[in-house]
Amino acid sequence: MKARIDAIIQREQAEYLERLHPENTGLLAEMEAYAAEHRVPIADREVALFLEITARAMGARFILEIGAAIGYSVVHLARSLAPGGLLVTIEPNEEMIRRSEEYLTRAGLRERVRIERGFALEVMPRLQETFDLVYIDAVKEEYTAYLDLALPRLRTGGVIIADNVLWGGQVAGEIRSAEQTASTQALRAFNQHFVHHPSLRAEILSVGDGLGYGVKVQ
Ligand SMILES: C[S@@+](CC[C@H](N)C(=O)[O-])C[C@H]1O[C@@H](n2cnc3c(N)ncnc32)[C@H](O)[C@@H]1O
Repeated sequence: MKARIDAIIQREQAEYLERLHPENTGLLAEMEAYAAEHRVPIADREVALFLEITARAMGARFILEIGAAIGYSVVHLARSLAPGGLLVTIEPNEEMIRRSEEYLTRAGLRERVRIERGFALEVMPRLQETFDLVYIDAVKEEYTAYLDLALPRLRTGGVIIADNVLWGGQVAGEIRSAEQTASTQALRAFNQHFVHHPSLRAEILSVGDGLGYGVKVQ
């Protein structure tokens, strides 16, 4: 099969899609401005929307996120939870946690979110919940370990999404900076592991910076 190399990834089409979607307003716009000003990496708008659509379509009740930052993706996911649902997010940075708490309170979503302070590789083995949806968005070198720790806690039929798996084009092409060599190589290994995993049906979508998207089949 020939890849559609001249399809969605053309600049003209990417710009069209960027214009097509409405700008955020209110709290989300404020969070985007804060992230831009303070150089906090948050999900692309289209990725955050994709997360929200997925959570709503699934009727997700339990969601796990790895890497909260200021809570931008958390707001999208938490407001999509089915009644009585819970989002668990893992974040080690105190300033990020403080910001997330403030934004979640203002969004009226604080009670639906449990923030686990700490490093995902230490927190994940302690989690007791079974999740409908897992979103991976923290240390690129640890993605494969996150996947392996998350899968036993994901229900069959549950969805796992990993952000930045094309890493600004470096995963498929040339590595642009020496400091991104390890992360790029780790993402290449993760993508292989992900799409060939016997417990998953999975693929890589050209949404945002590349989204790994898989469903647990066994
Ligand atoms: C890309 S940002 C998350 C963005 C967020 N998911 C969003 O879309 O709005 C990655 C976050 O992972 C956090 N992080 C770094 N090391 C981590 C670790 N070992 N475990 C969990 N989170 C980690 C960082 O502090 C940072 O806030």
